[in-house]
Amino acid sequence: MTTSRIPGFYNKAIDERLADIAQASGLSLEELAVFQSQGGLSPDAADHMVENVIGTHALPLGIGLNFQVNGKDVLVPMAIEEPSVVAGASFMAKLARTGGGFQATATAPLMIGQMQVIEVLNLAEARLKLYEHKSQLLAEADEIDPVLKKFGGGARDMEVRIIDDSPIGSFLVVHLIYDVRDAMGANAVNTACERLAPRVESITGGKVHLRILSNLADKRLARARCIAPLRELAFDHFSGEEVRDGIIAAYAFAAADPYRAATHNKGIMNGVDAVVIATGNDWRAIEAGAHAYAARSGRYTSLSKWGKDADGNLVGTLEMPMAVGIIGGATKVHPAAQASIKLMDVKTASELAEIIVSVGLAQNLAALRALATEGIQRGHMSLHARQVAIAAGATGDMIEKVAAQMVAEKVVRSDRAEEILKGLNSSGH
Ligand code: MEV
Repeated sequence: MTTSRIPGFYNKAIDERLADIAQASGLSLEELAVFQSQGGLSPDAADHMVENVIGTHALPLGIGLNFQVNGKDVLVPMAIEEPSVVAGASFMAKLARTGGGFQATATAPLMIGQMQVIEVLNLAEARLKLYEHKSQLLAEADEIDPVLKKFGGGARDMEVRIIDDSPIGSFLVVHLIYDVRDAMGANAVNTACERLAPRVESITGGKVHLRILSNLADKRLARARCIAPLRELAFDHFSGEEVRDGIIAAYAFAAADPYRAATHNKGIMNGVDAVVIATGNDWRAIEAGAHAYAARSGRYTSLSKWGKDADGNLVGTLEMPMAVGIIGGATKVHPAAQASIKLMDVKTASELAEIIVSVGLAQNLAALRALATEGIQRGHMSLHARQVAIAAGATGDMIEKVAAQMVAEKVVRSDRAEEILKGLNSSGH
């Protein structure tokens, strides 16, 4: 049984942290060593992934601590370049833990494939003809991927829409709903659409133009809920009520204003993307799905909701599309992605989706709590100061010294970092 509570983790050396993670997860140091070799992705392996490869590009990999999802502790690998994200997620996971952790669910892994049918004489007639052939079309689509079928996936449903306000006039869109099980599913869905197109053409008399999945994966949702107990919300001179109501008012801003919603949702994606990237999943697909889902009512809004329960505790919920897989693609060939999936001990794509949406909710809480109280800069400042110190040439324990002085002075700038560094160097520190 993994434990995600590791006291003092932050202040340890990297090797000690790795040893802690091995102990907490039950994985061997060898299994985790990949995280210390630039993700274990050799240029040769990279060469098989994309074109024109000349090397690889690494990101920091931090561990989100304290997470409990559906009663189970989970150590969350987060690949991200931005300071404060991993700390924020871990801190809020600890807070949510006092309220029972995250309760998360996921729908069946249903992806949507789209076929654009143009040059159709009578759209209404063609639409109904397609429905008349639905079971036949689904049966045919079901045979396309025998492996997926063996694992319980395959064609599930079909929907036909008429689009009549496009720049080229009217056309039909066929949606093929496909259960992709533990895959992200793009390949399975795209193949199914391409293979089904001739049948759709012969039924409609039209021409199938595009055949591609939709990233608005609104039939493949993940949902998370957490409670932050009122008594746990108080800190410094802020009462629990002040923090709670401040967070709710911050949420209301995002709910009502697209300019704020974009930033609010960006904060959610800080957490979501970090895990999506760590597991080798397609973060552009997740981003596209998230923002399209946030705009589904016609007005872009917050993906999460914050309010209170009958006891006055803060309650947060998050619902968003989550098209992630644990087999195929980079999840299979990237050594760090494999190790990340092992570390979380997830056995299905849905379990991974549940963890990711929980991390998104934790990240959102971290941002709102800071914004609604002391402001975001204080927490950001010390980590940011370290980066500025490094950029100014500080190394070893000088990094912390230069950073600490800049934070104390509330001046975090490269020119000041250089001055402080010069001063420390010349005074023999
Ligand atoms: C920064 O990366 C994310 C935040 O801007 C999110 C938010 O404003 O809610 C802090």
